[in-house]
Amino acid sequence: MVANPLELQPYSQLDDENCRQRILAAKKALGDRLIILGHHYQRDEVFEHADFSGDSLKLSREAANSKAEFIVFCGVHFMAEVADILSRPDQVAILPDLSAGCSMADMADLNKVQAAWQELSSVLDPDETITPITYINSDANLKAFCGDHQGVVCTSTNAQTILEWAFSRREKVLFFPDQHLGRNTGAKMNIPLEEMVVWDFDKPMGGLTEAEIHNAKIILWKGFCSVHQMFKPVQIEKYRKQFPDGKVISHPESSYEVCQNSDYVGSTEYIINQIADSEPGTDWLVGTELNLVNRLHHQMKDQGKSVKFMSPTICMCSTMFRIDPQHLAWVLENLLDDNVVNQITVPQQVANSARVALKRMLDISA
Ligand code: 13P
Ligand code: SF4
Repeated sequence: MVANPLELQPYSQLDDENCRQRILAAKKALGDRLIILGHHYQRDEVFEHADFSGDSLKLSREAANSKAEFIVFCGVHFMAEVADILSRPDQVAILPDLSAGCSMADMADLNKVQAAWQELSSVLDPDETITPITYINSDANLKAFCGDHQGVVCTSTNAQTILEWAFSRREKVLFFPDQHLGRNTGAKMNIPLEEMVVWDFDKPMGGLTEAEIHNAKIILWKGFCSVHQMFKPVQIEKYRKQFPDGKVISHPESSYEVCQNSDYVGSTEYIINQIADSEPGTDWLVGTELNLVNRLHHQMKDQGKSVKFMSPTICMCSTMFRIDPQHLAWVLENLLDDNVVNQITVPQQVANSARVALKRMLDISA
């Protein structure tokens, strides 16, 4: 029997410690029926409850392999969608707060991408010459578009492998929604900047000339992450003056200039591993989300390493932050009462096509 769902409102009155105890009790009672996946950008009060943490690639693999009946995703909407698409039909993906989206993912929508594909077809045959690649930070229907057009998904970990695969098949790539990940990865592959053009979705023909389109290897969607765009080369310059032996590490959603001036560039998981593997006494400047950098700062202090945040202003991912212990306690206690709240369900047809593009990615980067 399904009881009335427990209302969220009383949970918002609970303090974090109270929530913590209730989350622990609910997790214990649910046992193997539940897995909590946590992205590295989650706040500590939530992150501590994750059974498994990782970057987007690691978490999508875990979602695909998990046997649990309930997959509670402490991350953002597109991540829970991926969990729903890659899990078995009898598994349930849950996002504790449905308003936890990704502003970058929202910068590309199906209508605009279809319009771009249509416009490009007046210059060349896109289905013969262009591989559409969507960063995993995107809506399920864009993954489906890629699945339907011999395209693929990528993450910050496997972007280069995926681009290499794409170029072995077709001469060009349409990369959305993050221009920076596309450009930084292309630059790593020695693709000249002038062969990576930006498609401005608010302008006819993306604001590009026919010649620019013909000359391009990568057509970059004009999307970006509002968190990572806060990092600037001047912050690196200042740091290097103060700490000439220090190391700079950035996420590839940061600008080209920031990545070019960094010693290391990679996914959240890569950043964690690089810092963890460094010598005691190493000083780091890190260009990625604040919750992760703060966690690293505290963890690494004991190992005699210093971890500093790249931006002088607080820039955290406000949507990741929406997942709080109160929402987590609410969804878990509802599960205890046999109520599923905040389930993420991708429509079957969209899921089928999106799964093609996601599985292609997992196979290529296995
Ligand atoms: P990672 O896959 O590197 O964890 O990145 C996800 C993300 O949203 C970064 O902003
Ligand atoms: Fe999206 Fe940026 Fe937040 Fe990552 S940090 S989830 S790209 S808004």
